[in-house]
Formats: sequence, C-alpha cells, structure tokens
Amino acid sequence: MITTTSSWKKLVALGKEAPQSTLSELFLGDAQRAARNTLHLNFGNGSLVADFSKQNITSDVVDALLELAQEASLSNRRDAMFTGVPINTSEGQPALHVALRAPSTHKIIVDGIDVVKEVQQVRRSMAEFATGVRNGKIVGATGKPFTHIINVGIGGSDLGPALVWDALSCTLKPSLLCSFVSNIDPVEVEKVLERHDAQQTLVVMCSKTFSTSETLSNGRIIQQWLAESVGDAGVAQHCAVVSVEPQRATSAGIAFAHSFNIWPWVGGRYSVSSAVNLANVVAFGSDVFDDFLSGMRAVDEHFVETPLAKNIPVMMGLISVWNRSILGRETQAVVPYSSALRLFAPYLQQLIMESNGKQVGSDNVAVATQTSPVVWGSVGTNSQHAFMQMLHQGTSVVPVDLIGFAKTQATHGDAHDSLMANMFAQAQALAFGAESTEPQRTMPGNRASTVLMADELSAQTLGALIALYEHSVFVQGCVWGINSFDQWGVELGKKLAQKISQQITQGAPSSDQDASTSQLLQWYLKHQ
Ligand code: F6P
Repeated sequence: MITTTSSWKKLVALGKEAPQSTLSELFLGDAQRAARNTLHLNFGNGSLVADFSKQNITSDVVDALLELAQEASLSNRRDAMFTGVPINTSEGQPALHVALRAPSTHKIIVDGIDVVKEVQQVRRSMAEFATGVRNGKIVGATGKPFTHIINVGIGGSDLGPALVWDALSCTLKPSLLCSFVSNIDPVEVEKVLERHDAQQTLVVMCSKTFSTSETLSNGRIIQQWLAESVGDAGVAQHCAVVSVEPQRATSAGIAFAHSFNIWPWVGGRYSVSSAVNLANVVAFGSDVFDDFLSGMRAVDEHFVETPLAKNIPVMMGLISVWNRSILGRETQAVVPYSSALRLFAPYLQQLIMESNGKQVGSDNVAVATQTSPVVWGSVGTNSQHAFMQMLHQGTSVVPVDLIGFAKTQATHGDAHDSLMANMFAQAQALAFGAESTEPQRTMPGNRASTVLMADELSAQTLGALIALYEHSVFVQGCVWGINSFDQWGVELGKKLAQKISQQITQGAPSSDQDASTSQLLQWYLKHQ
C-alpha cells in the first residue's frame, strides 16, 4: 500500500511543515526557484512551458514525490500501458489510446493482432470519407452536398469532439458546421434540429457500446426527422456510426451507410484521438486531425522518454497527488485564458473524475488516501468576475491550473495582451496576496497555481494539452493504486433509471421503491 512507503511518510511530514514557508518566503529565499520548477517541451512547430514554481512545493517535496513515483513503479506501469499489457484489470483490457496516435511504423500486438495497423486503416477510411464529403462526392439522399454535421453521443463520445470543434473553429475555417447533441433531454435535440436542413445534414452517431440510452434516444429522434425529409430509404445515406460494434446500431434500429471502428481498449474518455473525432475530421479535414494527433504523440514520446524530474505530465500528476492527498485540497480549478477552451473544464471533469474518482484500488482493497479532486472551472477573464473572489479570500484553498497562449489569431493583439496580463496577475495575486490594514481587504496569498502556456492554440497544441492531462491522470492513478480505466460507479444509476422508466410507462411506482422515490414518482405522474 502506497501510504506505508517511506516516501509517503516523508511527504506527510513535509505536508505538516508546508504552511511554515509561504510562497513569498520561498521565492525570496531562492533566486532560481522559478527557473528550477519550470519545464519545457518543444515539438513540431510548437512549444509548451509548465511553471510549477507557484505550487506549495520545496525541493524536498519534489524529491519525495519523485521517490514516490519510483515506489509506485510508475515507469514500469507506463511502459506496460504503452505496450498493451491489460492494465484495465477489472475489464481485462489494455488501455491503448496511445496506439491511436502511435507512428505507423510501430507495432503493438493485442491478442495476436497489430492494432497500429488497424488504427492506420481506420484513419485512412476516415480521411477518404472526409474528403468525399468535403468535395461533394459523398452527398445526401436528395443529391445535395452536406453543409452541417450533428454529432450524437455522450460522455467521451461528446465531450472530446465538442471541445475540439469549439477550440478549432475559433482559429480555423471549417468546411461544414458541427452541432452536438448529448443529453436525453428532448429540448436539446429538438432545438438543434430546428436549426438544420435534413437534406444537407450528416449525422455522426458515436457510441463505443451502442447501448447508451441517451444516444439511442437522440439517434431515433434524429432518424425520424431525417425520414420525414428524405424518406425512410434515404436515412442511412445521412448517417455514420462510430462504435466498437457498429452492427449493434443496426440491432437498435439505427440505419447507417458509413461506419468506423473503435476498439474495446479505447476508454470513452480517452477516445478523442479515435474515430470518435470523425465530425472534426470531416469539418476541418484529415490534415488537421493529423496535426492534432502529432501534438498528442509528441507528449506521448516526452512522457516515455524524459526523466521523471523533467517530465511535464509526471510532475503535473505528482503535484496533484501532493495537493489532494497530502495537503487535503478537495477541489482543483482549471482556468484557460482562452474562450476557445471554454469546454476544457467539462472535458477534464470526465477525464479526471471518471478515471480517478474511486475508493477501492485495482487490488480490490480500499485505498487509504483521498483520490480524485472535484474538478471545475471556466475561462479567464470571465471567472475573475464570478468565482475567483473565493479562490483569493475564501476559506477553502483551491489549486488552479491557468492556461494561456503567447499568440492570438485574432486581429486585436492588444486585447490579447490584456487577457494574458490578467492571467499573470491572477497567478501573482494568488501566490503573493497583498497586505492591508483592514482584514477584509487583505489577500492572504500562498495559494497554489500552475501556469501552462503554449505558443498558440493550434490543432497540435490542443492535442498536446489533452495528452498532458491524460498522462497526468494516469500518474495519479498509479500512485493511488487505482484502475483509471473502468467506471463501475456509473452503472447502478443506469440500471435504476431503466427500472424507473418502466414504472413511469406503467403509470405507477413499484411496491419495492423507497418511500421518497415513490412519492416523487407519484407527484411526477400526477403533474405531467
Ligand atoms: O459515463 C459512462 C460512459 O460509459 C463513459 O465512460 C462513456 O464515455 C459514455 O458513458 C458514453 O458511452 P458510449 O460511448 O458507449 O455511448
């Protein structure tokens, strides 16, 4: 158990000492602190910098965290992930999202099959399909070219492509416009359909399992809407399915003419580098998707090849463990200073909390420490006019990741300078605070942040940013000894919702319902 290791005990002791030296004192006492706690990564046309110097860490803490990584066998576990060992033990699967962006010359064998070869084949057919749609060779049932895409999916089958669409459409010109439908709330799908012409709409239905009730419900509503416009026989021509088993869509009554495979070893929240991103491949072109994957690959290589002390996702993960398990920080905020990244916080909520929100380890034994923080956030500067007050002066201490870019593609460069000035100022105010004779105006400071910066928001840097967090989550899971790749906690709610749906259809709660649910159901049925 990790909590019995000598490095963990060292960290606990250091955690008790931590409040004794404030960030102001640590910076005053060490002229090299900023440079020493900052890591760099150069790749392709891009570069990234991660400044951890405003975290509540000392060199003793960093040394003990690196020792902890050794005691958690981090390097071996990382290598096991990259080579296809079934590290997702509760589901008997490898976790091979890294195979989705591995160089085509790589070989990763799963059950005797080279999965890199399969990935390359699917990427080629996605590229062919995207080109066909973009140049008007693949058209709708009435012969009109596609101008709009609706992506149907939820969780990883929505959050990843939605984030990529939102981010890239701020900087690149898409050839088709994408919308996203995820919730089973019919208001969402009906509102989206109102804005579309069925004859020119391509529908991408993403579901790893094709058993997800939200996606099936929305898929059926959309197919009915298509049929009303292009006839039953034309529906399939407007639909592409992305799934481990596309034939399950057929069994569920969903018609489609195009299908793209993913694999059981791609976790939903790790699927952004798979065909789940099809809508963006069509909208922006497969070259842009290649750039996106190249950014992810650069981080994969950095994660594998760089010594732990200079490894950005390793340090991100270890510092998260320090904040959560040792300093007891319950939440973690993420604030990109980029409107294009307004969906980054929701994306990370699934990635981090669905991966590491667990109380039992891979060995089926209760973990003896706190695991995933609550992840939340919004973009800067909006957050400064919403929740940052609490971060500066509230009673809970919340570590923050601030994310910014050196360049903007917008024409008003001076406004971008102000945006970034605000990010630097927030990190400064959190760390160093300000004294006042009036306690109410005092800013205590000593509040941790990491600043992550890239030169510009491109497909490549977006891919790199996402991969940094993927691997940071993995590092945390390794230290805590949990399986970051299953999500049994979401199953019970799904089962109960099915049972309750039947009772709603029957018009009465069953006698075995608890008193509260029974009363709520009766009220619901009466007021419908
Ligand atoms: O929320 C549970 C979950 O299984 C996620 O892990 C997944 O991303 C989402 O549901 C959607 O699943 P699917 O892609 O199979 O429809």
